Amino acid sequence: MTSSDGSHGPAKGEESVAERVWLREVGPRDGLQNESVSVPTDVKVELVERLADAGLTSIEVSSFVHPKWIPQLADADEVFARIRRCPGVEYSALVPNERGLERALKARVDAVHVFMSASESHNRKNINKSIDETYPVLQPVIQQAHAAGLPVRAYVSTVFGCPYEGRVPIEQVLRVVDKLLELGADEVSLGDTIGVAVPTQVTAVVEAVARRAPLDRISLHFHDTRGMAAANVYAGWLAGIRHFDGSIGGLGGCPYAPGATGNVATDDLLYLFHGMGVETGVDADRLQETAAWLEEKLGKPLPSHARQVARSACAG
Ligand code: HMG
Ligand code: MG
Repeated sequence: MTSSDGSHGPAKGEESVAERVWLREVGPRDGLQNESVSVPTDVKVELVERLADAGLTSIEVSSFVHPKWIPQLADADEVFARIRRCPGVEYSALVPNERGLERALKARVDAVHVFMSASESHNRKNINKSIDETYPVLQPVIQQAHAAGLPVRAYVSTVFGCPYEGRVPIEQVLRVVDKLLELGADEVSLGDTIGVAVPTQVTAVVEAVARRAPLDRISLHFHDTRGMAAANVYAGWLAGIRHFDGSIGGLGGCPYAPGATGNVATDDLLYLFHGMGVETGVDADRLQETAAWLEEKLGKPLPSHARQVARSACAG
């Protein structure tokens, strides 16, 4: 049976996995932060609205970091002010410190995403602090977000490898995870910032982190630099993870991680999960329409496999 996204789901009568995963769309933040062309605010607003219309219920809209560090997202306040909000959709943003939280609360975010790295060098390049100096910055952010009734997700970057230090020992990752949980993070997102992980590593890391936090408080965030992201998502899913990040068309990267390319594409995750009979709640056709629209706005093709297939089908 061919589904609307072109994937071959279970045939009629065939046992369905009857499962569900939750996808968080990070394209408007992780994707656009790495675009060399400046994307007009209108396009960002329409992108977020289209993503919600396609059925994504968790969208990382932008980032309240220092605008000099990430000029591409300097209009975060305006994007939040202008988006039409759909009931049931969580509109979140990256927040590095109390100044960022102040802006995020004013913008009426639904969830706060703090972030730091498992490796010293990346943490310093990305947020200008050592790992130990970062905790006292994040502690009041987490406390104040909770006091405002907002959930806090904590990204741990460079979990599977650092652009400056190479392999990151799992003990180092666990130290950071433990501290963030102790500070009150509701969820930890394990980030393969530069796309170096392989599935066996994912299994080992998820098993270790799952001894500290229930699986529904852990999510996975893969970049697809080496084409391993779908395999890594599958390994995470087999290990019991049900929350994954993706970006439309595979947009993305981290400006402070040389060589990092886009996130695993949300459209490719739909092919993977729908093909396995796992529900996502996302309409693959509407997402494709939005990816095609975004390509036009950016003036370039997006790298996902789903987009490549769609473009070659159009070319006939
Ligand atoms: P800093 O320069 O050390 O900041 O930057 P500071 O605290 O010393 O403050 C200096 C000035 O900046 C002050 O102004 C502050 O008010 C102002 P002054 O008093 O001099 O006039 N300031 C701010 N202004 C607006 N908004 C703010 C803010 N904070 C301070 N939030 C800082 C430290 C963390 C702010 C900076 O390093 C920064 O913004 N870094 C962001 C880097 C970034 O966004 N990287 C990409 C996202 S992470 C990622 O992509 C990885 C992820 O996807 C997961 C994965 O893939 O692994 C999440
Ligand atoms: Mg990222």
